[in-house]
Amino acid sequence: MTTTDQTRLSEALAAIEAAQTIDAIEAQRVAALGKSGWVSLALKTLGAMSPEERQVEGPRIQAMRASVADAIEAKKAALESAALDARLASEVIDLTLPAPEWPRGSIHPVSQVMDELAEIFADMGFSVASGPEIEDDWHNFTALNMPESHPARAMHDTFYFPDQGPEVAGSPTKMVLRTHTSPVQIRSMVQQGAPLRVIAPGRVYRSDSDATHTPMFHQVEGLVIDEGIHLGHLKWTLETFLKAFFERDDIVLRLRPSYFPFTEPSVEVDVGWEDVGGRRVLGGDGDAPGHGWMELLGSGMVNRRVLEFAGLDPDRWQGFAFGVGVDRLAMLKYGMDDLRAFFDGDGRWLAHYGFDPLDVPTLSAGVGAKA
Ligand code: PHE
Repeated sequence: MTTTDQTRLSEALAAIEAAQTIDAIEAQRVAALGKSGWVSLALKTLGAMSPEERQVEGPRIQAMRASVADAIEAKKAALESAALDARLASEVIDLTLPAPEWPRGSIHPVSQVMDELAEIFADMGFSVASGPEIEDDWHNFTALNMPESHPARAMHDTFYFPDQGPEVAGSPTKMVLRTHTSPVQIRSMVQQGAPLRVIAPGRVYRSDSDATHTPMFHQVEGLVIDEGIHLGHLKWTLETFLKAFFERDDIVLRLRPSYFPFTEPSVEVDVGWEDVGGRRVLGGDGDAPGHGWMELLGSGMVNRRVLEFAGLDPDRWQGFAFGVGVDRLAMLKYGMDDLRAFFDGDGRWLAHYGFDPLDVPTLSAGVGAKA
């Protein structure tokens, strides 16, 4: 018995010493100290012994138990510290290595141009206003002097919602996807009163689609209400805006009589361009040889009836308004030729035409993005 135990003990100690994993040590612990391990069984034999025998065997078996337990403890600690050393050796961070490059998003040209517009108009005292894209018939049409059966409504290929909307101006109204940003004129006048200087950039919708028309596109509305406002203010404001936006002093405007129900008089604004290697570049007198005029935006003096709809006294307050396509401005300034690509969400297009997020447009540094 004693020699067997001695052999078992030295075998167990050797196995523990040779163990390379925590699992292997655990197996040795179970084999020796587990419920039916050989040390535990040996301890159980003590009960049947005479007191004399027990006095000798007790300490001997306890000593075996202790030496197995100590060996396990020591080997576990050794394995754990070896594992820690290995991790420390493999997980070294070399702070002198260059950081890996992270993919960085870019600013969409539409957002870029909207930021540029906000910067330019903020300098002229305008704030940015907004309104809902799901608009009611009253704000989108009626209050803009387009009553129910007005033929001008047909000019907008409107997306109508099937259900009746909430009550507006006393009666239930149809809801539409706004066909222009002009309803924000009404909302701004109603909410803020006069005097007023706002621009309202945003999405608009018309059921129309080809290379230069998408069912969703972007406009920016401008509105100034004050006492004594006249067409000269409109022309100066547009000229100042376009010179700052296209970063050219030789932007020439041509105002043509036009018609919008919500402005009276209404003017269509053309901008002179010149042919530069087959490309139309804005700038210069459109009547000069090799030049031409491009229709850019609609505008006019706010119609008296619109002021009345918005609750302002038209004998005291006058104003001008304009509306221009943001996507169109972006295409003209940054040279894209297919509007549909704006909204395809193609990462390659964005990588090419997008703008550095850190390159914030400012008047001091020039609102145009760096190449
Ligand atoms: N809302 C008009 C359009 O979408 C543009 C416009 C705005 C014209 C303001 C005059 C004044 O075509």
